[in-house]
Amino acid sequence: MGKRVLLFPLPYQGHINPMLEVAAILHSRGFSITIFHTNYNSIDSTKYPSYRFVLVDDQEISSRFRPAVEDSLHRLIAWNNSCEQLFHDCLTSVLSDKCEEPVACLIRDTHWYNLEYLANRLGVPTLVLRTGSAATLNWFLAFPRLFEKGLIPVKESQLDMPVVELEPLRMRDLPAVGNCRHQLLHNLFTHGMEAIRASSGVIINTFDAIDHKDVEKFQKEIPVAVFCIGPLHKFTPPASSSLLDQDYSCLEWLETQAPSSVLYVSFGSLACMNYEEFVETAWGLANSGQPFIWVVRPGSILGKDEVDLPEGFTEATRGNSKVVSWAPQQEVLAHTAVGAFWTHNGWNSTLEAICEGVPMICRPLFADQMGNARYVTHVWKVGIELEGKLERGKIENAIKRLMKDEEGAEISQRMRALKNEASCCIKSDGSSSISIDKLIHFMSSF
Ligand code: UDX
Repeated sequence: MGKRVLLFPLPYQGHINPMLEVAAILHSRGFSITIFHTNYNSIDSTKYPSYRFVLVDDQEISSRFRPAVEDSLHRLIAWNNSCEQLFHDCLTSVLSDKCEEPVACLIRDTHWYNLEYLANRLGVPTLVLRTGSAATLNWFLAFPRLFEKGLIPVKESQLDMPVVELEPLRMRDLPAVGNCRHQLLHNLFTHGMEAIRASSGVIINTFDAIDHKDVEKFQKEIPVAVFCIGPLHKFTPPASSSLLDQDYSCLEWLETQAPSSVLYVSFGSLACMNYEEFVETAWGLANSGQPFIWVVRPGSILGKDEVDLPEGFTEATRGNSKVVSWAPQQEVLAHTAVGAFWTHNGWNSTLEAICEGVPMICRPLFADQMGNARYVTHVWKVGIELEGKLERGKIENAIKRLMKDEEGAEISQRMRALKNEASCCIKSDGSSSISIDKLIHFMSSF
C-alpha cells in the first residue's frame, strides 16, 4: 500500500498555487493526496478528483475580519491561536481512518506555525513549504532582532539605510504590511522560525542558481533539511487552483500582437490601489502607446465596488489594450507577444516572470514584495523599480526605459541568461529535479 501526504496551504492565492503544485508533484510520484482547506478561500475540489479534501470550519474566525491586507495578518494569527480547535478533530479523524493509506507526513505552510506542535503531539512528521524565496527566510530571522534593537518601525530618516546582515536590502525593503503593528510581524516571524526548527525540513519554491547563498545562510542558523524544488509551476500543468475565473480571451488577443510588444500588468491577488492611482495607471499605460494587458481584479480599487475606466480611455487605447478581471497569468507570461511585466513582485509572479524571461517593472507594496523587487533590480538586475507616488508621466517613462531604450535591451539580455538558469534546474539532471528525488527519498524514510 502506498503512502498518503496531508497538505495544509495557507488560504491565499499566492500560497494555494505553490502548495497544489507540490501536491501534483508528489501525486505524480505515487503519493495519495489529502488537502485541508478552510471555508475562507476554499479550493474547488471538483478540479482534483483524485485528491481527498477535508474542509476545516473556520467561519467563526474568518468572519471577524475584513478582506483588507492588514486584516489578513490578524486573521492569520487568529487561525494559529485557534489551531487546536480548528484542526485537532479533522486531523485525528484522517489519521485514524484505516481505509486510507498510512500517512507519511504533513506539509504545512510556513505561516501555519502552531500546526507544527499539534502534528508533533499526534506523532505526524512535518515538512514546511516556504512559498517565497529562501532569502525571505533570512529576512524573517533578522526582523525580530532589528525590532528588538528598536530599528523597526523604520524611521523616515533611515529608510535608505542598508540592512548590513541582509545585503542588498535597505531598511525600506524589509517585510511590512501597511500600517499594521510591527509587533504582529515580530510575533509571526518569531513563531514561524521556531516552528521550522521543530520540523523535519523545509521545501522552498526556488532554485539553487538564485538562492543557494541564502539557503546556506539560513541553514547555519536553523540546521534543518532544505529542498529547493522550484520553480514549482514548471513541474506541473498551469495553475488550475485559481480562485477566480481566468479570462482566456487574453491568449487569443495576444495572437494578434507583435512579438515582445505587449506589457502585462498585474498586481496579484491581494494588492489594492486608490482611485487616483487607478486613473494615473490607466493614462500612463494609454500614453505609453505600448500594447498592454491590464488585470483589474474585482475589489482591488479601494472604495469602488464597480470600476469604470476613465472617460476616453477605451477610445484612446482601442485595439491596443485588453483589460480583464483575472488572467491565465502563467500562460500570458509564456506567450511570445509579451515583452515586459509590470508587477507588485509577489514571489509567484516574480518567479513566473524569470521562468519566461520577461523583464519587470517593479511596484512592490507589502510583505516580501519590497525585498523581491530589490533582488530583481539590484542582484539579478532584470528589472527596474517604479518608485514614489504613482503618476502617469513616471509610468510612461518606466515603460519606455524597459521596452524602448538601450537600458531595457541590456536588462532583457540578463533576463534571457536567468531564464536559461531556471530552465536548466528543471531538467532531469537539474538541481531542482535532483532535490525532488532527494525529497521523495527523505519522505520515504518517515
Ligand atoms: C501573496 C503575497 O502578496 C506575496 O507577497 C507573496 O510572495 C505570496 O503571497 P500574491 O500577492 O497573490 O501573493 O502574488 P503572487 O505571489 O504573485 O501570486 C499570485 C498568483 O496568482 C500567481 O501564481 C499568478 O500566476 C496568479 N495570477 C495572478 C493569476 O492566475 N491571474 C492573474 O490575473 C494574476
